[in-house]
Amino acid sequence: EKGTYDHFMLKEIDEQPIVIRNIIQKYQHEDGSTRLDADIRAAMQQADRIYVIAAGTSYHAGLVGKQLLEQVANKPTEVHIASEFLYNMPLLSQNPLFVFISQSGETADSRGVLVDVKKKGHRTLTITNVPGSTLSREADFTLHTFAGPEIAVASTKAYTAQMAVLTLLAVDTAYAAGRTLDFDPIQELGIAANAMEALCNQKDEFEKIARDYLSVTRNAFFIGRASDYYVALEGALKLKEISYIQAEGFAGGELKHGTIALIEDGTPVIALATNEHVNLSIRGNVQEVVSRGAAAVIISMEGLDQEGDAVVLPRVHESIAPLVSVIPTQLIAYYAALHRGCDVDKPRNLAKSVTVE
Ligand code: M6R
Repeated sequence: EKGTYDHFMLKEIDEQPIVIRNIIQKYQHEDGSTRLDADIRAAMQQADRIYVIAAGTSYHAGLVGKQLLEQVANKPTEVHIASEFLYNMPLLSQNPLFVFISQSGETADSRGVLVDVKKKGHRTLTITNVPGSTLSREADFTLHTFAGPEIAVASTKAYTAQMAVLTLLAVDTAYAAGRTLDFDPIQELGIAANAMEALCNQKDEFEKIARDYLSVTRNAFFIGRASDYYVALEGALKLKEISYIQAEGFAGGELKHGTIALIEDGTPVIALATNEHVNLSIRGNVQEVVSRGAAAVIISMEGLDQEGDAVVLPRVHESIAPLVSVIPTQLIAYYAALHRGCDVDKPRNLAKSVTVE
């Protein structure tokens, strides 16, 4: 039920802090240790490489998950678009573990891969919001994202929930392998939930950005580097699917290899600048587009912010920053769609779960 909300999407955006806190509770014991099935833990330890398979927004969560699995758990990880995998299969390692990320658990492209790799005898884990779903039933193991039903076609809370569960999986794998971490990722998730809540209480700001920059434009660009690039991809997908604005996400450094030719007077460029080690270079990219007429909206973070930034996020740990930096892009997309009179919850030509290949 929508309750007091006009749209499920806005309700689901607002639910995100609670969802993250809920996931922490579900996956963490009171003494701080992680609560994961012994079988999943063993499968993670035995795997010499993780192959993440997903589509759309879940693929974008997988990209962030790769960084977590590699940096926190020291597990080599590849992320693949489900619909491409069978036609362009990489050489597999000796002991692969396939991780399927799917809100619905019904995505046919992902299922096609699951059926194929199972036939070949590989181990499979599904991360899903629907534990009884096909991908969950057919995989060896399931991790539940506990986001509650997601009704809007545009995925919001399922995406942040997927990243939170991937964080827990990475932490559990790291501890089981005896690694010591120089930060507590689960505590950082709690800090991220508070930051998400603060942003959800600043909706007027995002409505204004949408009105000022996106009410009449034909196109828009999102740029970022490192994990900000993954959020740029997600921000662009969200904007295009509900507002029908042609939006693309780019790695900041790629602009000069072609895309910058599209920048005209007033072209909106939303730049994510929450990664410390690339802060100067992404700001350099912003300069490049602004000098060609772009209308830049910079989303930065406390400690890295500069005068003129449109949004300054509360400070959170870099490895989980995408959970927080995606919130402004979700809200900006929502208000852009609203201002343009689009059907926010049921965009044209799209289904909530894509059950055909
Ligand atoms: O149910 P799934 O997570 O497998 O769905 C994958 C994509 O179809 C889905 O994320 C889609 O991209 C969303 N509509 C994006 O908001």
